[in-house]
Parts: sequence; structure tokens; C-alpha cells
Amino acid sequence: MNNLAVVILAAGKSTRMKTMTSKVLHKVAGLPLVAYPIERALELKPAKTVVVIGKGSEEQFEDALGNRYPVKYCVQQEARGTGDAVLTAEKPLKGFDGYVLIIPGDVPLIFSGVLNDFVKKMEEDGTVCGIISTTLPDPHEYGRVLRDKKGEFIAIREARDATEAEKEIDEINTGIFLVKAGWLFENLKKLRPDNAQGEYYLTDLIEIARAANERVAAHCVGPWEQFTGVNDRFDLSYVGKAMQLCIAEHWMARGVSIEDPDQTYIDSDVKIGEDTNISPFVFLKGKTSIGKGCVIEAGAVITDVIIGEGVHIKPYSVIEKSRIMEGGVIGPFSRVRPDSVLGKNVKIGNFVEIKKSILKTGAKASHLSYIGDATIGEATNVGCGTITCNYDGRLKHRTVIGRDVFIGSDTQFVAPVRVGKGAVIGAGSTITKNVPPGALGLARSEQVNIKNWAAKKAKAAKSKKSK
Ligand code: UD1
Ligand code: MG
Repeated sequence: MNNLAVVILAAGKSTRMKTMTSKVLHKVAGLPLVAYPIERALELKPAKTVVVIGKGSEEQFEDALGNRYPVKYCVQQEARGTGDAVLTAEKPLKGFDGYVLIIPGDVPLIFSGVLNDFVKKMEEDGTVCGIISTTLPDPHEYGRVLRDKKGEFIAIREARDATEAEKEIDEINTGIFLVKAGWLFENLKKLRPDNAQGEYYLTDLIEIARAANERVAAHCVGPWEQFTGVNDRFDLSYVGKAMQLCIAEHWMARGVSIEDPDQTYIDSDVKIGEDTNISPFVFLKGKTSIGKGCVIEAGAVITDVIIGEGVHIKPYSVIEKSRIMEGGVIGPFSRVRPDSVLGKNVKIGNFVEIKKSILKTGAKASHLSYIGDATIGEATNVGCGTITCNYDGRLKHRTVIGRDVFIGSDTQFVAPVRVGKGAVIGAGSTITKNVPPGALGLARSEQVNIKNWAAKKAKAAKSKKSK
């Protein structure tokens, strides 16, 4: 929409959140709160989108959002109220004369399509200053929509300034405004901080418009839950839960089974393929992407991982920043740390830790191993208790093992070290030298059996006692 600009308000003091970080940067489903109104706004393809942030929070926003969105940030010098915040967008919107859509940065659940309908309706009616209102059962802190006897919208009264009778009103201001640009910036300058909070309230624009006989409107939209504003940590947990249900619904509609959506945590950027089954207590975080037909069992915590088709993640596996190709079986109780690539049909079993390693097609490490800074060849079997000793106290070194190698249990590879294809490593070996292809690598002291040792020991002990 060429005649639309958006201003997102994200410069408040965050007093009720009790936080060192800007309130709108607290995360919901892996993204800062403010990301959601920004995304809804960008769906409208506005000519310009301005995010108003607080002085001193520039770095926090840079760290949290970087260049993720094509928006312009502008700084409100002091949090003097929502009206003052919008006024800081005057400069970046200079020369723009369409409609300005104002969205609070703390309202993350707005449904797609709602803003579009609102803008269309206000434009059709030629409204100068309109809001989205909603009705809700317990409007405690929200600004109330005041109407006259004919039902015409006359003002918004903040909860703190409301009389007892006004507090009984259940229609509230969602904080979303659409105002003609020229009129907006001219009239914001007329706001006065004569209210309980001593702030410049954006909401006072309604009375200003009415007094000038301009057309105002409150467009009442449900369900109210989508307009929940996050002012404190309770609100944050509420929208977090609601967001989880929306995300679960989204994936279930695309053929993903989620056994218990109330107990499953999926970040907004995650992608999941059809016919994948997700058990309760699973966390899918960051930019994780899961292929078709996977099984993700209870307690798996998966962050920024690319998972191919038909992968089975067994319970309580923790996997980060890695890649698991099709047919892999991981867990239970496996840990895959960053920069690992597990090839097709790789099997990682219980209490195995993998770090910065490549396991090629069909390689297996089924029990109790540490594989760090290593390459393990195709179809190689890593025996129980194998350890790559990759760190010499100062530097990390690599272990490179070829294809079809059989590694006996309880082997240590003191890196840097290489094992050729088809080699066999005897159980209990400490391998410090390269093993050529096809060789048996054995590095343990020879076993000694002392005949009748136990009986002799018992006899000696007995004679000592009788003395
Ligand atoms: C505001 C509305 C209220 C509405 C509610 C809906 C006003 C005066 N009140 O109240 O009518 O029912 O939202 O959720 O507008 N902000 C700034 N700079 C400031 C102050 C606030 O950028 O100086 C930002 C905040 O970061 C926040 C948004 O504006 O994202 C709304 O501010 P907040 O303090 O949460 O207002 P509410 O009390 O929720
Ligand atoms: Mg709020």
C-alpha cells in the first residue's frame, strides 16, 4: 500500500516488566515481542515502516533484530508517552501524506488480515482518526472506549484516569490507530500531559478530532485475545502460551502430529515437514528445520538444526547448530554440539556426545562416547566408551578415521591421529600413532595371568591372623 506508513511504538519505560532490557525485546516463541507487530505491518507492504525505540536501547535492538526487517529505527529521547513517541516519527515520515498506522510494539498476537481490513474500512469511510477496539471480560488496565447515548465514539479514557462508572465499560482501545499523516503530526503537538501519569497520550487525539468535527471511528474486532498487550511478565507468559497454540495449529494444519500442543514449544522460525510426529516436552528452537516423516520424542531440545527426512530423535537428546541427514537415529540421551554433520542413516546412541565432527553415511556410535573434532568414515563402527582426546590443554586437534573401520570398546584416540580404511582397533587401546588401512591397531599392555594367585593370597592372610 503506497499510501500507508506504519509506526511501531517500542520506546516505553517497561516499568511493569521490571527489566534491564526493553520490554518489547523479551522473547515469545524465540522472537522479540516487537517482531510480531513488525511482521504483521510488513504484510501490508507499507511505503515506510518506522520503529520508535528508546534512547539507550539502540544496541539492544541492533543485537536482537539487526537487519532482519526493512524498517527504519528512530529514537524517542525520553519516554513521555505514546503521543510523544509517535511525534518522533514525524521526521522520518516527512513528505508522506497518506495514512499512518500506529501499532504498539507490545501486542504480538494480532491475526493476519485484521490490519488490512481495518485500513480498508477507515479509508472507505474517510476517517481521519480511527482505532481498533475490542470487548473483553476483564479490561483492567486497558483504555476504555467512551461512547455517547447514540453510541458514537467520543473519547478514550485510560484506566488510571477513569471513573468507577467508566471502568465498567468493556470496550477497550487496542492501541492500534490509523490517522491521516498531515492531521496527525499537526495535532500531536496539541497534546498535554494533564493526566494521572503526566504523559502525552496518543489516545487524547480522539477528543481533539471530535472537537474539530473530524471523522473518528472505533472499529470493534474480536477475538480480544489477539490484542493482548504485554505489560508485565504474567502477560508475557500468557501470550507465550497463546502463541504456542497458534504455532501448533499452523503445523497441525500442514500434516504434523503434535501429541500435546500444551506441552510442546516451537519457535516461530521453525519449519516442520508433513507426517512428522512430535511428542510432549519437545523444544524446537531457533531456525530448526525438520523434514518429512520424522519422529521427535519426549524431551528433545533442538536448536538451529537442519534435519532431513525420516530422522528419529529419541527422548532427551540435546542437539544444536548441526545437520542430521535422512534416516538418522539419535538418542536417547545424546548430545550433538555445534558444527556437526551426521550423514545418512547415522546412528548415535545413549550418552554419546558429538562436537564439531562429521560422521559419514551409516557410521554408528551406539553407546557412551565422546567424538570431538573428528571425521568418522562411512559405515565405521565406534565402540562403546570411545573417546577422542582432542585437546592438549592448549590446542584442539583432529581425529580422522576412514571408512569401514571397527573401533573396539574403550579406545582413546590421542589427536592428531588418523586411521586408514578397513582398519581394526583393539578394545582398550590408546592410539597415539596413525593406523594404516586394513591394519590392527592395538595399544595396551599385555595381560599377565599369575597361576593360583588368589589361593596363595588367602593362605598368607590366614597365617598373619593366627600369629
Ligand atoms: C496503551 C494505551 C491504552 C491501550 C493499551 C493497549 C495510551 C496512553 N494507552 O496503554 O489505551 O488500551 O495501550 O495495549 O496510549 N511507548 C513508547 N514511548 C512512550 C510510551 C510508550 O514508545 O513514551 C510504547 C511502549 O513501548 C509500548 C506501547 O508504546 O510498546 C504502549 O505503551 P504502554 O506503556 O504499554 O501502554 P499501555 O499502558 O499498555
Ligand atoms: Mg501496553
